[in-house]
Amino acid sequence: MSYPIIFDTDPGVDDAQAIAIALRHPEIELLGLTTTYGNVDINVATRNALLLSELAGRRIPVAQGAAGPLVKPRHPAPAHIHGANGLGNIDLPEVHGRAEPIGAAQFIVETVRARPGEVTLVAVGPLGNLAAALQLDPGIVEAVKRVVIMGGSIKEGGNVSPVAEANIFNDPHAASRVLTAGWPLTLVGLDATHRCVLSPADMDAIAAGQGELGAVLKGSYAFYREFYQQALSIDGCCPHDSCALAWLLRPELFTTARGHLSVVTEGDAAGQTLFAPEGRAFIDERWSRTPLVEACLGADGPAVVQWIVDTLK
Ligand code: RIB
Ligand code: CA
Repeated sequence: MSYPIIFDTDPGVDDAQAIAIALRHPEIELLGLTTTYGNVDINVATRNALLLSELAGRRIPVAQGAAGPLVKPRHPAPAHIHGANGLGNIDLPEVHGRAEPIGAAQFIVETVRARPGEVTLVAVGPLGNLAAALQLDPGIVEAVKRVVIMGGSIKEGGNVSPVAEANIFNDPHAASRVLTAGWPLTLVGLDATHRCVLSPADMDAIAAGQGELGAVLKGSYAFYREFYQQALSIDGCCPHDSCALAWLLRPELFTTARGHLSVVTEGDAAGQTLFAPEGRAFIDERWSRTPLVEACLGADGPAVVQWIVDTLK
């Protein structure tokens, strides 16, 4: 089976690992990388996307997208997690390629329209590019095969606020449009990704298996791992963005439920994802009016990590 995907990303250490999977997995047909600000500024995101595919010896179209959120002011990039260059502050080789002459939203629309019913959008950063694509061509809701989002949290709590996950928090207005658009959608949030912890030995095995790309992953893992050690007392890291691809190729490793999602866009809970399970009656219907989607409520963490390592070692 082949999975044609567009990978929408803010690389970012865990994005870089997921991009390596998208570039290497024999069943993934990577049609393009679309970039967004998030872990880094937009120009850095685009540079990293170009670099990672060049290091893997591939020429993948890279289309640059959102430089900031739709409505709220932008928070500074989290340089303490991913490094100022998004890849752990290691020295990086020069990039030779250039971004596409069209922007991310246009690229998404044209690519989806060229292959109706075939393309899966996998988005692992703030959701401005998907929101812009919807605005440009609302009909892509029917033309995509599926949308898989790394973001949100159902019961796990947040990672940037007590209730919000970073990708949704960074642009809750975009997330609200994308999560309620009515396309076939799966949310792979912290309830699943926090079950998955990549050990230092796993990181070494991946780095050793990826040639020039592996050297960059190795350096960036060192920085990312230090953050996890300080923030969560974990010796390892959560491969958030790779989990979206793991769900696409190995959905049986995840526990999911159908329900209605909504996003809190303002106030102290901004960025929180609210999930009303299908068929569950609450005191009023306001949480159950959005289209049905699928949300991950858990994962077999060791099996997901093994899949990642097996793909990249
Ligand atoms: O919360 C995890 C997400 O935020 C991942 O996509 C990671 O890359 C960061 O941006
Ligand atoms: Ca990301």
